[in-house]
Amino acid sequence: MLQRIRGFFGSSLESTQDQSLDHNAVVPYHVAVVMDGNGRWAKKRGLPRTAGHRAGMKVVKNIAIAADEIGIKVLTMYAFSTENWKRPRQEVDFLMRLPEEFLRLELHDLMKHNVQMRFMGALDRLPAYTQETVREAIEQTRSNTGIILNFALNYGGRREITDAIRKLAEDVKEGILLPEEITEESIRSYLLTHDLPDPDLLIRTSGEIRISNFLLWQLAYSELWFTDVYWPDFTREHFYEAIRSFQLRGRRFGGLK
Ligand code: FPP
Repeated sequence: MLQRIRGFFGSSLESTQDQSLDHNAVVPYHVAVVMDGNGRWAKKRGLPRTAGHRAGMKVVKNIAIAADEIGIKVLTMYAFSTENWKRPRQEVDFLMRLPEEFLRLELHDLMKHNVQMRFMGALDRLPAYTQETVREAIEQTRSNTGIILNFALNYGGRREITDAIRKLAEDVKEGILLPEEITEESIRSYLLTHDLPDPDLLIRTSGEIRISNFLLWQLAYSELWFTDVYWPDFTREHFYEAIRSFQLRGRRFGGLK
């Protein structure tokens, strides 16, 4: 899903820092981000990895507001993967506490900007205190009508697809769904993103060029954009650079122009 910038924000565009964007070109509806490089950012500065994660956390709100200002409707951020449990206990504990810190520091501004927070992943496997923060964030921002800031937390693309297939198989067994009714659309309805359009653009920071089990179904036709910049150094200008690159792409979805 795409939309034009013009008309959405009228004169408010002049006050933002996106002067170099083509205001007549389409902006993505849904942008997904792999926020990578926190650890290396910290190492470069002789700091513990956790300092990198905290610095990374501080970037999230600015990018969400920058995205909202140009008319992006959904931002899905990879905050913790199903594979991240393999990290040292202390780092995992820190990451599990980050949503709480994020909410405490940023909720006020997020409310001011009308941001709706969501979380997707195996949320029931998170520590109780993280689940509590997730519930609170969703509850507090539920009625906001601005950008959807969707955190993938304890998320894995293969896990998502596996869970979807299991649920689908149960529905077939129960006679709720007929085998001939299994289509791309019906499969989509079992995914965690069932009420969101697929990402138009995926951004990954830190120079790694892979998907890492993120949104495996949904990224089928997304444009991909990679940068060497570590996530804690990622600014609004870098974000708009990605959007500009997106605006120059010719999307054909397998067809012809
Ligand atoms: C990958 O960098 C980053 C993560 C596993 C965590 C990302 C989380 C945040 C930026 C904070 C999210 C904020 C909230 C509110 C949940 P890495 O540690 O793999 O970096 P490295 O590859 O340099 O080691």
